[in-house]
Amino acid sequence: MHLSRFPRLHFSHLPTPLEPLENLTKLLGGPKIFIKRDDCTGLATGGNKTRKLEFLMGEAQQKKADTIITQGATQSNHVRQTVAISSKLGLRCEVLLEHRTGSEDPDYLENGNVLLDRLFGANIHSVPAGTDMDAAMQDIADDFRKNGANPYIIPGGGSNPTGALGYVNCAMELVGQLNDRSLKIDHLVTATGSAGTQSGLVVGLEGTRSGIPVLGICVNADKEKRKNEETGKEEEVEVSKKVKKESPYEVIFKEPNRRQLEEADMEYSIEISRCIKKGILTKAMLAKKYSDTGGLLTEKDAERLVDLYGELAELESQMAKLGAPSKSQTDKEDNRIKNIGGKMALVRRDIVALESSYQSLFNHTADIKSQNRVILWYILHLSYFKTSEMKKPELIFPGNDFDDKTDTYYAKDENDDELFRLVQSKLAAVVSYWYFSDSPEKDDFDKIIDDLSA
Ligand SMILES: Cc1ncc(COP(=O)(O)O)c(C=O)c1O
Repeated sequence: MHLSRFPRLHFSHLPTPLEPLENLTKLLGGPKIFIKRDDCTGLATGGNKTRKLEFLMGEAQQKKADTIITQGATQSNHVRQTVAISSKLGLRCEVLLEHRTGSEDPDYLENGNVLLDRLFGANIHSVPAGTDMDAAMQDIADDFRKNGANPYIIPGGGSNPTGALGYVNCAMELVGQLNDRSLKIDHLVTATGSAGTQSGLVVGLEGTRSGIPVLGICVNADKEKRKNEETGKEEEVEVSKKVKKESPYEVIFKEPNRRQLEEADMEYSIEISRCIKKGILTKAMLAKKYSDTGGLLTEKDAERLVDLYGELAELESQMAKLGAPSKSQTDKEDNRIKNIGGKMALVRRDIVALESSYQSLFNHTADIKSQNRVILWYILHLSYFKTSEMKKPELIFPGNDFDDKTDTYYAKDENDDELFRLVQSKLAAVVSYWYFSDSPEKDDFDKIIDDLSA
């Protein structure tokens, strides 16, 4: 998209930062949330109108305007920024402020943005709520034209096709930042009022074929109301969001150093030889044993399995002879079908049990036992926790050596220790995943923890 085709002035502080909102993400229990810091656009304390004004003021300058006319609510941010840039460019600025809220608070009427509007030298026209603001701006413009001036009208919020170009540019800037950081975002959520921000973002994100959908949250709509069944009166709906209760513990799994990796390896070898001494074979030894004695199954089990499959085939053919269940079926036929179905279920269960006993045989090999012991070694040596009161993290399972730490582990289990209850399954899943994966990414761990928390 070639935005240089449009007249533009450059006064925004761009690019604005893209920052992770870590605390909010944590509070909500994910997803990861980032903020595009368009409060940092510069120009009279910044805000989203600065970007629009680059294109609007570019057009005003191209048209050789000497007077800028705009409108907004009394405390309008758009008005404050428009007045500021007009002042900077040495242009006269006429603003219409609509008294939309009805507030008579002197601070609302004269302080904040209104004070800034005055300081930047705007001529303020205060009008009551409900005034036709576009017509009122036209009237002012007509008066100026009659007096030989060249006015340029900026609609409320700076939202028209020209102003929206500011957010087309923002979308392109954002996509560039995402690409630079290899960040993939799924949704963009924006506040929407006069809709120039949202429409510009939609055009920019579509034009760059980013595939990022935009959700606008309206800042102008009336609060949602519902009728109270008892009183018959309308009440505001309380909008609340379920926030996951935050745990007081931060759990840290430290990466092992070289010495620890060697110690864990050593533990693996010790456990393997311990198992073999006890008669527990490794997977390789087991496989060899079965190949030497002719196949995986013992002769007895192989015969039993053949019998079971024969029984199943017989029952299936009996069932087939009875045909598909129909409405005209007699009670006798119905009972017979149920009877055969029950027998089939039992035979199938026996087959599964027999077959899986061979699978579980492999699960009880020396290799698997040793791997589990190494994973426990890592959990016990590298898991730390921290609460907000603690200066630095402490070991979850303190102890002088592996045996000592193992005692702590089982003691915590028996005493239903709160932290242990919270982290036990998560630590096991995360550490196992880390142990068996090639080069796991942080995102993969986050996903495991999310799944376990669900
Ligand atoms: C901070 C902020 N974001 C977004 C918006 C909405 O922008 P737009 O008027 O372009 O829809 C406004 C204005 O209401 C705003 O003040």
